[in-house]
Amino acid sequence: MEEKAASIFEDSLAEFLKPIKALLDDPSITEVMINGASEIFYEVKGKIKKSDCSFENESALLAAARNISQFVGKRVSELEPIVDARLPDGSRICIVIPPCAKNGTTIAIRKFAKEKLGLKDLIQFGAMSSDMARFLDVATVLKRNILVSGGTGSGKTTLLNVLGSRIPGNERTLILEDTAELQIKSQHVVRFETKHKDFEGKGEVTIRDLMKAALRLRPDRIIVGEVRGSEALDLIQAMNTGHEGSMGTVHANNCFQAMNRLETLCMLGDLGVPAQVIRNQVAEAVQMVVQANRLRDGSRKLTSITEILGHDGDKYITREIFRFKQTGWSEESKIIGHHEATGEEPGFKEMIQSSGMNFPFGIFHKKAA
Ligand SMILES: Nc1ncnc2c1ncn2[C@@H]1O[C@H](COP(=O)(O)OP(=O)(O)O)[C@@H](O)[C@H]1O
Ligand SMILES: [Mg+2]
Repeated sequence: MEEKAASIFEDSLAEFLKPIKALLDDPSITEVMINGASEIFYEVKGKIKKSDCSFENESALLAAARNISQFVGKRVSELEPIVDARLPDGSRICIVIPPCAKNGTTIAIRKFAKEKLGLKDLIQFGAMSSDMARFLDVATVLKRNILVSGGTGSGKTTLLNVLGSRIPGNERTLILEDTAELQIKSQHVVRFETKHKDFEGKGEVTIRDLMKAALRLRPDRIIVGEVRGSEALDLIQAMNTGHEGSMGTVHANNCFQAMNRLETLCMLGDLGVPAQVIRNQVAEAVQMVVQANRLRDGSRKLTSITEILGHDGDKYITREIFRFKQTGWSEESKIIGHHEATGEEPGFKEMIQSSGMNFPFGIFHKKAA
């Protein structure tokens, strides 16, 4: 066993954070949510639970919020009641104080998972089947443009990490993020992080700014951690102009929503481009959508891998290759089900064949029930 991990905050904050120390130190807890002094929740194994910890009163909690902000070089005040920051260990923290926070000072801390999950873990946890892993692997190596879609905490970043780590070492990969989270293990990786404006409102650097720079830095592939603004247009155009094998995540509940969301975000990127033109570009750029989901029993799974074949003017033409099929609930309130091939073969089958890889095409066959 390793030595006990150091606390995510420095000792100087220990006194302020005493009420939640046990939650912060417990490695099985992934998120701590404070909704005012006496209402504290935490997440363990994907489930939210109420804790019996509490701060003495609102002013003790507010003092903690102020000190944490200071610790990360920010300021939280009535004038600027929202702070979003990353702790030195990579954990994410968001603070909202009154008057905007009506429950009292509200804080969420998403703890940084030091042990990143790998492909084997995801298979072992039942997040995907080994056939799906095989398929995602070949799609990554053969430079399909992949969009990972899912809700908050559904495992998008984790999946992007796993996919990114399959990028061949001779390809130069540029990563752009709002909060540097990805730890892609490939040989030639360059990472960028956005920058907030300072107290005078100056010096902001957005994903879009980073994207412009990235395109001048001879990227083979570009990875955008979270696509949530006008940078979508730059990403799509990069995908369409020689940067195949690019990837990003988007917040959506299924593949159609993901594509529509991307389209909407692209429109923000250039109001002058007709919707139909944007739609064509999006349809051409994204070749595959991988849907991540946090299911009702707290488990995280890939629920669908779908190819995007184009657009018929009305809606996207898709072909689902793998999906998760729920068959019931266990007595312990766990979802029972399995991942299955739909029986469809991917549109880039010939590409796989001509790559010379010894690929088991049988994985696409629908298994008899
Ligand atoms: N398949 C999985 N099984 C269990 N835990 C997972 C799985 N995928 C991700 N996680 C964990 O869930 C949390 C949220 O995952 P993350 O990838 O950051 O989600 P998102 O980017 O969608 O918000 C992390 O703590 C991560 O380690
Ligand atoms: Mg994420």
